[in-house]
Amino acid sequence: MAVPKNIAKLQVRVWDLPTRIYHWGQLILVAAALLLGFFGPEWWLDAHVYVGYAIIAFIVFRLIWGVWGPEYSRFSNFLFSPKAVIAHIKKLVSGRPSHFLGHNPLGSLMVFALILILALLSISGLTVLGGVENQGPLAGFASFSLGTLARIGHEFLAYLLVGMIVAHIFGVLFESYMSKTSLTRAMVDGRKPVTEDQRPATLYPVRKEGGMIIAFGVICVIGAVGALASTMPASGLIAMPVNESFQSECADCHQVYHPSLLPRESWVSLMGNLSDHFGEDASLGADTTNEIMSYLSRYAAQAWDTEAANFLSLVDEKHPFQITATPFWISRHANIPQEIFRTKPVNSKANCSACHKDAAGGMFADQNIQIAHGQN
Ligand code: HEC
Ligand code: HEC
Repeated sequence: MAVPKNIAKLQVRVWDLPTRIYHWGQLILVAAALLLGFFGPEWWLDAHVYVGYAIIAFIVFRLIWGVWGPEYSRFSNFLFSPKAVIAHIKKLVSGRPSHFLGHNPLGSLMVFALILILALLSISGLTVLGGVENQGPLAGFASFSLGTLARIGHEFLAYLLVGMIVAHIFGVLFESYMSKTSLTRAMVDGRKPVTEDQRPATLYPVRKEGGMIIAFGVICVIGAVGALASTMPASGLIAMPVNESFQSECADCHQVYHPSLLPRESWVSLMGNLSDHFGEDASLGADTTNEIMSYLSRYAAQAWDTEAANFLSLVDEKHPFQITATPFWISRHANIPQEIFRTKPVNSKANCSACHKDAAGGMFADQNIQIAHGQN
């Protein structure tokens, strides 16, 4: 009996609109996050972070949609046993792949792996932001050492993600070729052809509104908790009173440096050598010297858990109180043309605030870097 033509062309809407928006939206966001993370300058950190927040909202949506969404978007629709995965691979290799209306077993593994890696990237990213930069919802909880550890994980996961995206694209192309159905087009218009033996038997009506409302509610709650947590004081920063003598005596020739930029021993030896201070005589009366010395010692690098304090406290032994001689300072500023330091408006390497808008507060946040006034 001849198969009626229309059966061969029978199509069913497999991917609902929210799932397709999720897929392509997440693609754009992840591409933006990767580009900004790998190639963006430090002072674009905010853009990377906000894209990251959007990715988190998308993941939360997808998790909820995987439980309350329509048939083919539900995780239960594409949970395959290892046996089923192996059977699928065997059939695929032999050139006779089974057709799946929803995700095929390999595709479903990729969906779960991508959601998992994006979740891990989000968590590690927030830990770097909180621990290293003292910003974001985890600033009150994450220490600098935890943040640096998370940074290693974050970078590793980012490379892994790139590899998985490549595998995903090849997988889709391969499956499309083998099954003679364009999976990419299906993700655009949502439709997939149905063959005689796999009618969409269980397509029961789903109240999409329910899943949407739950997803929206949960995203709002997580956003509110995150925003609230972001207002907590950062664990790396401490309250520091202003010392009048320090502010007036040390500002004659240059900006006052934040006490967290050198370790205790360095401040002590600097204050003990004021008569020969970088070729200048900066000496002060004994009382003022002692007052400033104890203030600087008290709020020296050891008291803080910022990126600047942690790295700049590793001083160069030959120049124990020269911030610009520390290995960290040198390596971090190695890409800046020397002329910029010699010419106006910077004039000196030690003129931190020409390029760091927040130098006075000791933060040195990525977002506050401007190479020099007027030029970004
Ligand atoms: C008489 C002028 C003068 C006074 C007063 C003075 N300094 Fe300096 N200071 C200098 C000069 C000049 C340099 C070298 C700056 C440069 O390399 O551009 C310098 C450099 C420094 C540096 C190292 C910056 C770097 O290159 O890493 C620190 C830290 C510093 N001063 C702290 C202080 C403190 C603390 C006081 C107050 C007790 C003080 N200075 C008072 C002239 C002065
Ligand atoms: C000519 C401009 C300029 C001057 C002057 C300058 N910096 Fe920077 N600094 C930069 C730039 C640009 C970066 C980012 C480099 C990069 O891409 O890693 C940076 C990075 C840093 C970082 C790392 C920030 C982070 O979160 O990654 C610290 C800390 C820092 N500078 C401290 C200082 C201190 C302290 C001084 C003064 C003694 C100083 N800088 C002077 C331009 C400058």
